[in-house]
Amino acid sequence: MDHLKELLDLALRWVHLIAGIMWVGNSMLFNWLDRNLIKPSDAKPGFEGEIWMVHSGGFYQVEKKQLEPHQMPSVLHWFKWQSYITWMSGISLLALVYYASEGFLVDPSVSKLTHAQGLMVGAGVVAGGFAAYDLLWRSPLAKVPNILTAICFLLLAAVIALLTQLLSGRAAYIHLGAMMGTLMSGNVFFHIIPSQTELAKATKEGRPQEGSLGKHAKQRSIHNNYMTFPVLFIMISNHFPSTYGSKYNYLILALLAVSGATIRHFMNIRFWFRQWLVGFVAAIVIGSVCLFALVSIKPEGAIAASNNDGPMADFKTVQMVVRERCVQCHSSKPTDEVWKAAPVGVMFDSPEQIRQHAERIKARVVVGKTMPLGNKTKMTDEERELMSRWIYQGAKTN
Ligand code: HEC
Repeated sequence: MDHLKELLDLALRWVHLIAGIMWVGNSMLFNWLDRNLIKPSDAKPGFEGEIWMVHSGGFYQVEKKQLEPHQMPSVLHWFKWQSYITWMSGISLLALVYYASEGFLVDPSVSKLTHAQGLMVGAGVVAGGFAAYDLLWRSPLAKVPNILTAICFLLLAAVIALLTQLLSGRAAYIHLGAMMGTLMSGNVFFHIIPSQTELAKATKEGRPQEGSLGKHAKQRSIHNNYMTFPVLFIMISNHFPSTYGSKYNYLILALLAVSGATIRHFMNIRFWFRQWLVGFVAAIVIGSVCLFALVSIKPEGAIAASNNDGPMADFKTVQMVVRERCVQCHSSKPTDEVWKAAPVGVMFDSPEQIRQHAERIKARVVVGKTMPLGNKTKMTDEERELMSRWIYQGAKTN
């Protein structure tokens, strides 16, 4: 059963990654194509431009144009399954990793929610987020996009605050990513593809295309463009406990979302704004400096990571703490009911294994408190302080 779950996880993750790369890659290529089209001065009406490229042993000529009425090509390629498959595999993965078993979703040191309540918050944010966003951008407010964009940023901040207060740090991050990914895929499904379907239908029937659909779709596709970088960071954020595990994880998440969108913005305007590179570099530098500052702040009551003053830490006591708090999961024979194999292969059965991981133990137990997972084994601050001293004093095993 556990092997089955892990294999399913592997398969879904693999598919999700491949489909996601294809989706983002495609949309970036089309964005780039659009901006690099060359329109000859004597272009016929309906001819929007052409571009020459070289790739895989040949030259490619692409033309963008409107078709004459009734003039539909016999084979027309659509780009939609990359998006749908990314979404379906992503939602399945979310359910498998965060909902099917307890441990990742809620953190008792963050909130008192039960697993079922956490599930409702998470799933509610993903579905409710899309409903709210879609209704807002269908409403008359969409006629003043600047104001509505500002409102959406405020709502985003509210969602970040809500998620980080109710769910574990990593679940909060992933749920924001899942919500934004759902907006993106929803935009493709409910707006962009219907608009293209109507365009094809109108052309086939020889009538002018209905204008508003195309305008809507363009707006949604710009939103998708800006969401790409933030969503991609969030999807890999699970590898960075210093972000989601920080006491200021909500600020870090907001910072990374805004920086990602700003960096994308300067890439978008690079085709007509000569000084774009200045803004682009500035956004990266300012974002990185703020990020560094945020992950470096020590919250009040933090365990001193380099505690020199205390007495010598005795390794026997350290080993006892590890036995009591860690080996339930991190062992060749875990006893935890969820983790039947040592997570990421990290085991603490022998003194040597504990010493070997000292630096990561410091990162996960002392600097951030992201281990034990959800503090399931109820590690105390005194024990964390002991680990800190032991590591600072050289992580000796005798
Ligand atoms: C309930 C199960 C559980 C317990 C108890 C637990 N861990 Fe973990 N640990 C995990 C899981 C799951 C991962 C992989 C996911 C992750 O990295 O967050 C992990 C990953 C790790 C990693 C490797 C990832 C990295 O960042 O390098 C270290 C080191 C670690 N844990 C240390 C500890 C220590 C030390 C304790 C005891 C104080 C502990 N863990 C207790 C479940 C647990």
